[in-house]
Amino acid sequence: MSHLFLIGFMGAGKSTVARLVAQRLSRPCLDLDDEIERSTGVPIAEMFSVLGEEAFRTAESETLEALASHEPSVVACGGGIVVRPRNQAALKRLGTVVYLQVTPGEALARIGDVASRPLLAGSSGVIAATALLQAREALYSASADMIIDTAGKSAEQVAELVVANLIEKGL
Ligand code: S3P
Repeated sequence: MSHLFLIGFMGAGKSTVARLVAQRLSRPCLDLDDEIERSTGVPIAEMFSVLGEEAFRTAESETLEALASHEPSVVACGGGIVVRPRNQAALKRLGTVVYLQVTPGEALARIGDVASRPLLAGSSGVIAATALLQAREALYSASADMIIDTAGKSAEQVAELVVANLIEKGL
């Protein structure tokens, strides 16, 4: 048995859906950003502003790879997990990957206040989100074993779809 990773853009609903899927599968639920904050003792926004994005990405890679010795869990990943080839390889090695697709508009509506998202804060949210999502779309799709379109669906509906697809695919 291996991990179930939820990937996708900020605001795709990964953390909420991960909790619901974990309940349904009776597995532990982990949020990679929370794990990074726990292991480094530094809030994500501060890591970006004080240490810079590369330092955050390194902590992210190390935290992801450390899951190799963790019991099989449902893991909500940060939206940028796919930008490093090292992480793409770790996701493939350590589990099954579900991509939760979202549009930039819906993502921003779900996020609300972008202050906690360093890559969106301080710029025009829609322009930044559209450009970043466009740049990442192919990486998300290439990393995924399963793609779920979340448009117009509640977190419960998305979680149901994830579980149904896992069963159907025998994953
Ligand atoms: C990031 C997404 C964030 C967090 C960090 C960087 C990104 O996680 O990891 O701010 O690069 O898209 P969420 O997707 O949970 O917001």
